[in-house]
Amino acid sequence: MQQVNLGLIGSGTVGGGVYQAIQRNGALMASRLGVQLRVAKVAVRDVRKARAVKISPALLTTDWQSVIDDPSINLIGEFMGGTTTARTVVLNAFKQGKSVVTANKALLSAHGEELFAAAQRYGTNLYYEASVAGGIPIIKVLREGLIGNRITRLYGIVNGTCNYILSRMKLEGADFAEVLADAQRLGYAEAEPSLDIDGFDAAHKTGILASLAHGFWVNPKQIYVEGICAITQQDIQFAGQLGYTIKLLGIVKRVDAAGKPGSYAVQVSVYPALVPNTHVLGSVNGVFNAILVRGDVVGDTLYYGRGAGQDATASAVLSDLADAALDLKCGIKSRVCPFVPHERDGAVLPIGAVVSRYYVRLSVIDKPGTLAKITAILGAAKIGISSVIQPEGHEGKSVPLILMIHDATNANMEKALGKIGKLAAVKAAPVMIRVENFE
Ligand SMILES: NC(=O)c1ccc[n+]([C@@H]2O[C@H](COP(=O)([O-])OP(=O)(O)OC[C@H]3O[C@@H](n4cnc5c(N)ncnc54)[C@H](OP(=O)(O)O)[C@@H]3O)[C@@H](O)[C@H]2O)c1
Repeated sequence: MQQVNLGLIGSGTVGGGVYQAIQRNGALMASRLGVQLRVAKVAVRDVRKARAVKISPALLTTDWQSVIDDPSINLIGEFMGGTTTARTVVLNAFKQGKSVVTANKALLSAHGEELFAAAQRYGTNLYYEASVAGGIPIIKVLREGLIGNRITRLYGIVNGTCNYILSRMKLEGADFAEVLADAQRLGYAEAEPSLDIDGFDAAHKTGILASLAHGFWVNPKQIYVEGICAITQQDIQFAGQLGYTIKLLGIVKRVDAAGKPGSYAVQVSVYPALVPNTHVLGSVNGVFNAILVRGDVVGDTLYYGRGAGQDATASAVLSDLADAALDLKCGIKSRVCPFVPHERDGAVLPIGAVVSRYYVRLSVIDKPGTLAKITAILGAAKIGISSVIQPEGHEGKSVPLILMIHDATNANMEKALGKIGKLAAVKAAPVMIRVENFE
């Protein structure tokens, strides 16, 4: 049987999980693929470090370049994280004619365009199933399963930490800070949680999916990102009373240009949104991820599973290793190209032009004429109100006023809310959360 010798760069959560999964299911994979995967070397920062996954000391080295240069190694797994050394690792592997499997979404987000071009130039391949949504094989879905479709919509709950926090806030009535502290204690959130709770991790993943779905490279700077730090228990409860659940969504929407057949731009954004309780994404709870993909031929498809963690990520990496092993066995370097740019004029829709429905919460003085002033500002901006709710039982200097708003552009809403926020009767900055109906 043919053998593929694998060099792992990094053996922490992901690399260790991959090593362990190969020990566990390597023989099964060999029987299915007709190729034996063998871990030949493992580069780490500190060979003396105690490791949860035991690795033979003879395999360990601190010199990652020696792993790439080893002529017996024909496939590299980059599981070190970061964007600087990892970029060099991937490029150096390509220069040696070796394909790379990675789980590194930050690396792809920052340097994906360069790395995919380099893979093509050197006749190698870059496999990255584990970079988005852990155990859910979403890259394979977009690259292969739905290749005959134009992707019109993609909605993803792709950050387990945020979904865990929002789920517990809803189900237990807990506050953001309290749940975040708990998530950190349980290891679901990093000590420095900004990458997750400010939405950037979800943006890395959403950008990768958008690029793949639409065939042009989406620059991370073009992605509109809002995290979940400003979501309060009050908004979760009001949303619940209205029949909605708040979720952090990665959104990729094709928006056809009016009167120009075939011409379109793509909304690529990450923000918390009100999702109807009746929609399947509304009931995805805890650390789980889910992605809804709508194709013009297939219609709606849904993918659900663990978005991170050692085993889920290892499962995704094994799938890439299988593809890479088969490519090597068949002598094909790019049976499925990592990313094929095919839209020369692809454009990201600026957030100001994005049309949405909205939930708005105002803190107002409860006296006659206040609502009239607010509706006058919205009316002048041609923004329609679908309902107004002044919840009972709130007394004091200011009371909450909830407005549900019909479709409007983000730019119009921002402008109108700027004016409303300046009214003497409005006592705090207006809260605006978009409403997603998945139309
Ligand atoms: N954790 C997850 O659930 C998950 C899920 C999906 C994707 N990812 C991605 O997978 C990647 C790895 O994440 P992780 O959680 O496994 O990280 P990790 O636990 O911190 O492991 C990093 C590994 O890289 C090694 N390393 C770092 N710098 C090195 C260097 N200069 N030379 C040699 N080895 C070096 C470390 O060595 P030592 O062991 O000696 O410190 C460690 O083994 C990241 O890109 C992450 O975004 C992670």
